[in-house]
Amino acid sequence: MPTKPEELRSHRWFGSNDFTGFSHRSRMKQMGHRLEDFSGKPVIAIVNTWSEINPCHQHLRERAEAVKRGVWQAGGFPVEVPALSITETYMRPSPMLYRNLLAMETEELLRGLPIDGAVLLGGCDKTTPGLLMGAISMNIPAIYMPAGPMLRGNWNGQFLGSGTDLRKYWAELCAGTISEQEWRAIEDGIARSPGFCMTMGTASTMTAMAESLGMTLPGASSIPAVDSNHPRLAVNSGARIVEMVWEDLRPSTILNRAAFENAITVDMAIGGSTNAIIHLVALAGRCGLKLELPAFEQISERVPVLANIRPSGAYLMEDFYYAGGLRALMSQIRDLLHLDSITVNGRTLGENIADAKPINPDVIRPRANPLSRTGGTAILFGNLAPDGAVIKTSAADPRLLQHTGPAVVFRNYQDLEERINREDLNATPDSVLVLQNAGPLGGPGMPEWGMLPIPQKLLKQGVRDMVRISDARMSGTAYGACVLHVAPESYVGGPLAFVREGDMISLDLKNRRLDLLISEEEMNRRRAAWKKPAPRYLRGYGALYLERVTQANVGCDFDFLEDGAPTPEPEIH
Ligand code: FES
Repeated sequence: MPTKPEELRSHRWFGSNDFTGFSHRSRMKQMGHRLEDFSGKPVIAIVNTWSEINPCHQHLRERAEAVKRGVWQAGGFPVEVPALSITETYMRPSPMLYRNLLAMETEELLRGLPIDGAVLLGGCDKTTPGLLMGAISMNIPAIYMPAGPMLRGNWNGQFLGSGTDLRKYWAELCAGTISEQEWRAIEDGIARSPGFCMTMGTASTMTAMAESLGMTLPGASSIPAVDSNHPRLAVNSGARIVEMVWEDLRPSTILNRAAFENAITVDMAIGGSTNAIIHLVALAGRCGLKLELPAFEQISERVPVLANIRPSGAYLMEDFYYAGGLRALMSQIRDLLHLDSITVNGRTLGENIADAKPINPDVIRPRANPLSRTGGTAILFGNLAPDGAVIKTSAADPRLLQHTGPAVVFRNYQDLEERINREDLNATPDSVLVLQNAGPLGGPGMPEWGMLPIPQKLLKQGVRDMVRISDARMSGTAYGACVLHVAPESYVGGPLAFVREGDMISLDLKNRRLDLLISEEEMNRRRAAWKKPAPRYLRGYGALYLERVTQANVGCDFDFLEDGAPTPEPEIH
């Protein structure tokens, strides 16, 4: 624990009376800072993923200023450090391709610069795990400060939810039940303030994970981006991180197995995005912890879904905040949480939720009236997914959860786009739609294609859900009987690659199985005949990604970034 200014990490840059110290101090003075502003004070990086092309983070410049106020007031020295702004809306081929790049960038920024502590500003899906993974690996005091959800969408007197209602009304447009004009009006009203998607998508799920892991101030993940409590949260985060530096409260003290079990428990109770599974496994990996997929299943079985938020439920994140937010939700599952887990404010999770209670029991349901009696996520194994697959049962038509049907196979996304709406597509409501080559390497970047569109001819017959299987991910705002994250993926020769048109596939939720109903001999014949596809990238970051990314069941991190030998502190010359 640093008790004197000379023990701060930044002192190595600013404190020496030699050529190097002179250079570092003079350059701070070049920026107009007085010696007493930065010397001997905790230097706090505000790692900011603001960008003009990230609508979810458009307010983060202002929030960085609020964080700075808190840092100054607490006796620290703030420096805003920009980092890769992974925007879910625009980044292609898949934002997930870049999560590990942001994690690397965050880690190296914190290591390479004279930084004593960090406030991490993010929120749009991959930014939360990316920033946290980097901060965990660097392991200096860090607080996560979520960007907050945007306000509810509004159209024609109805509330609209990001992603969820886009998909719903797209299906209605395709089915001819809403007009082109109505579709345009929905476009005008669905996103009307700064902040991230306000359904229980990946962004809201992952910020809830950050809070339940203990990495945000209490209540932080539920505050809407434009609520005046949000800049106050920023000031508080700035003030608190300075104290954390003096207390030497690091991610390694906060993030133990119990913290991850709390996060999984909350993930189930909020009906969280399936993406959380991959990110939590990767985050735990950075801490040297192994989270196996069955751990999610075991916790899922004892945790009810209490957050009545789309896509599993009816409301939106703004309603969730007014109903008491995540602290109120956690108060309903106290007995299922490790209440003695320490959090960034230095208090335990139990202390942080001691006075919390739900205000609206329809939005945050009581235990006696859950949305679903068990968590919204199930893990499947079987000959089609030897290393596991995931399904969000709370967002699926229950009658499809025990289903056997013939496969309609798409070799890749292009094939899907070309054929899905053709009248001669051999699909019935009982068919199982299969998408290959959409995994971590095959996508590449495991795009959110897992909610395969329902063929238009079936939409017109009134079909709104079918069993769909892929090695892709699915947006947290999406829904349907979609089996995701099939591992190993088809691109590396997982059994999903061997499915042929008309093969019978069995989804058996009761026994948590996913099977291709062919003999073992036939499976082996197809395996022997399989040819590895050509790599998608031969140079640059893409080539590094293809070479070192791991499979979905182990978190899609780079193998060389998982916990390992400590990286040495830089030498200062
Ligand atoms: Fe940023 Fe959905 S697009 S969270």
